[in-house]
Amino acid sequence: EAERAAEIDYVFKIVVVGDSAVGKTQLLGRFTKDEFCFDSKSTIGVEFQTRTITLNHKRIKAQIWDTAGQERYRAVTSAYYRGALGAMLVYDITNRQTFDHVARWVEELRAHADNSIVVMLIGNKADLAGRRAVSTEDAVEFAEEQGLFFSEASALSGENVESAFLSILEEIY
Ligand code: GTP
Repeated sequence: EAERAAEIDYVFKIVVVGDSAVGKTQLLGRFTKDEFCFDSKSTIGVEFQTRTITLNHKRIKAQIWDTAGQERYRAVTSAYYRGALGAMLVYDITNRQTFDHVARWVEELRAHADNSIVVMLIGNKADLAGRRAVSTEDAVEFAEEQGLFFSEASALSGENVESAFLSILEEIY
C-alpha cells in the first residue's frame, strides 16, 4: 500500500452538493465503481470514495465527498468544503424545485469553499427526458451567468458521468 500511495502525484478533493434525491450518491458510484444501486438510501452524514486516474502522465487520486442533501442531516461545516478544489452541483432535470435551489447551493459554495473552486452544474437523470421539468437552455443560461461548467448526465445510463468528472479534474489540473 505504501508503494502504491507513492505512485500518486496529486490528490484532488471534490465535493458533491445538491438537494436530496437528485442522485449525488449514484453519480459518485457510477464514476468510482461503474455501479448504480436501485435501492439507494438517503446519505446520512458524510462519505467519500476515491478513484485514481492518469492525466498527462500524472496519477491523480480523485477523493470525492458526498453528503446528505436533506436539511435535517446536514451539519455542513467548513470542514466539508475545506481543501475542495472542485464541486459537482447536482439537480434533477425532472424536478424543477431542485433546479430552483441551485442558486442557494452556489451561495453556500461561495460562503464556505475556496474562491478558486471549480464548479460544475450537473442536470442528472437525463435518461428521464420524457419527464423533463428543466430545459437545457435555462440551465445553460444560469451556468453562464454564474461562471459554472455545465453538463446533463445520467447516473443510471452512465451518459456523460465519466466526461463530467474528467472535465472537472482536467480543469483543476
Ligand atoms: P441524499 O443522500 O438524500 O442527498 O440523495 P442523493 O442526491 O444522494 O440521491 P441518490 O443518489 O440516493 O438517488 C436518489 C434516487 O434517484 C434513487 O432512487 C436513485 O435510484 C434515483 N436516481 C439517481 N440517479 C438517477 C438517474 O440518473 N436516473 C434515474 N432514473 N434515477 C436516478
